[in-house]
Amino acid sequence: MQVIVDKSGVKRYLVTLNINGDSYTRVVRANTMLVNFLREEINMTGTKKGCELGDCGSCTVLMDGKPVNSCIVLAVEADGHQITTIEGVAQNDKLDRIQESFVENAAIQCGYCTPGMVLSAKALLTENPHPTEQEVREAIAGNLCRCTGYVNIVKAIMDASGEQ
Ligand code: FES
Ligand code: FES
Repeated sequence: MQVIVDKSGVKRYLVTLNINGDSYTRVVRANTMLVNFLREEINMTGTKKGCELGDCGSCTVLMDGKPVNSCIVLAVEADGHQITTIEGVAQNDKLDRIQESFVENAAIQCGYCTPGMVLSAKALLTENPHPTEQEVREAIAGNLCRCTGYVNIVKAIMDASGEQ
C-alpha cells in the first residue's frame, strides 16, 4: 500500500477496495473507517451508521463473504479485499431472494437495520442453505432492530433458505 506524506507530515494511504465487483482507489487517512469510505468517499449510503462502536450491526457488510461491522474496520484493513454492500445484493435489477422474502413477510418497518440484516442472512444462507431457526437467530444476533420486528425477520430468512 502506497503511503503519501503531505506537506505537514501527515501520512495518508492509497487503498484499492473491490466493492460489489468494481475497484475503487482512494487516498484515505489512517483512521478512515470502512463505513465512512463507503458512505462518504464513494457515496454508497445503503450501509447505515448506528452506534459506530461495533454493537448494533446496522453497518454490516461482507468482507470476503464474511459479515463485518464496517464501523470498526479501517479502510486500510479492507485494502485489497472483496466487499459486498447492500447495493451489490440485487443482480440485474432483480432483488435477491432474501430481499424478496423480507418484502413478502413485512420484515421491514423503518428499514434502518434491513441492509445489515440482509447481508448477515446472505452470509448465513451461502454457507448454510438450510439453517435451523436457532441458527438464523444466532446469525443475526449482532444485528439490532430498533423496531423489534424480529419474528418477521426470522421468518423471512427461513422462507428464503434453500433458495439461494
Ligand atoms: S454502526 Fe457499526 S455496529 Fe453499530
Ligand atoms: S426495521 Fe426499524 S430498526 Fe429494524
